[in-house]
Amino acid sequence: MWLGKFGMTKIPNEWSAPTKPSAWVSGTSQVERVLNFYKPVFLTGVDKIKVGDYLMNKIQGWIRDGGIMKTITCGVGKSKEEIIGFILSYPDKFDTKELKVSVWKIPLIIGRDEAVKKKLVQSLSWAVRLKQKSAKKKEVYLFTRIPSKDQETIEVLLENGFIPIETLVTFGAAIDEVNWPSLYGSRQLVSESCPEGHFPNNLRLEISPPSFSDLKSIFRISDESFSHSRFRNDPTLSLRSARRIYRSWLRTSFEKKRLLVARFSGVPIGFVSWDIDEGLKSFFGFAVGSIGLIAVAREFLGRKVGKQLFLSAVRAMKDKGAKYLTVGTQLSNQSAINLYKSLGLKEKKSEVSLRKWLR
Ligand SMILES: CC(C)(COP(=O)(O)OP(=O)(O)OC[C@H]1O[C@@H](n2cnc3c(N)ncnc32)[C@H](O)[C@@H]1OP(=O)(O)O)[C@@H](O)C(=O)NCCC(=O)NCCS
Repeated sequence: MWLGKFGMTKIPNEWSAPTKPSAWVSGTSQVERVLNFYKPVFLTGVDKIKVGDYLMNKIQGWIRDGGIMKTITCGVGKSKEEIIGFILSYPDKFDTKELKVSVWKIPLIIGRDEAVKKKLVQSLSWAVRLKQKSAKKKEVYLFTRIPSKDQETIEVLLENGFIPIETLVTFGAAIDEVNWPSLYGSRQLVSESCPEGHFPNNLRLEISPPSFSDLKSIFRISDESFSHSRFRNDPTLSLRSARRIYRSWLRTSFEKKRLLVARFSGVPIGFVSWDIDEGLKSFFGFAVGSIGLIAVAREFLGRKVGKQLFLSAVRAMKDKGAKYLTVGTQLSNQSAINLYKSLGLKEKKSEVSLRKWLR
């Protein structure tokens, strides 16, 4: 049971790294905070303890993956001690490789109050910089995503040199509760929704898994899309590295057979990637699917290709047993937001992405 109390050496207002991951979450106030901010809200009917267990498991995973963790502890009462905050950070291998800079992610900042959080953030920056210096690496790109409603933490980060780069909105739905439009499961003539002359009447839009030779066209579409993303909107990152990261995601989805391509006249004009969260599946007993990247070639925008791609991905996820689905996009991406809303998905959470360069 993860809500228990764990023994800690008393080090008032000092940093300490607990020996057991289980010591990270202690005291009901912390537990409530964590659940309030991080529970997967789209999962209706899953009890709090299960979500708590899931979260704990995730935290342990972050540690296993090489996370460093610091806590501030202080004495409470006569002999009792309580963790008053913790921060977690780990070097992100994928982003580091693709962006060609050291990327550290901060998946959790939990603190009793502003002062605690401030100390956590400052100490973490210091610890990461030290670690990188000893590894003779010059720059570090610190990245975190904070729930928009957690204004206090966002303020602390802003005051400590973090720059907001996007607001990410996550939409979700229980697949069987959505009244999917009629094109779900059908193959619609693109020409029906297109200006005359654009498409020969006898040609259909085909959505299917891509072949290796489709990747070139898929990359071309990807290169010109995602202008709202945090990689494209951060002037300190190059366009080349932003494109590289999307190409890499798409290559991985292709290899996992979780990519669909829309072809018109045999030529790829859009794609969608999807996945199933195996972690949630093993915890909750059912699969939760997510849409990763979806894009349509410029010249075919606004012709229901995106909608059909999305619906095909829903069908693929459902075939794999998914009961819920999530999809995220930037608050500034009105086309994508309208697409998800038009399909009946509901906004579930909003997070601010922030980054800081340590030099
Ligand atoms: C988002 C995207 C995939 C939509 O594809 P699309 O084929 O143009 O969209 P559809 O024609 O299927 O439109 C479906 C719905 O999306 C919304 N939509 C699409 N384009 C829109 C636009 N320019 N402005 C506002 N809403 C728009 C509408 O609600 C539309 O429904 P409606 O036609 O019944 O009003 C496409 O705009 C795109 O590739 N964007 C760049 C990549 C991207 O940002 N992807 C999302 C994040 S991963």
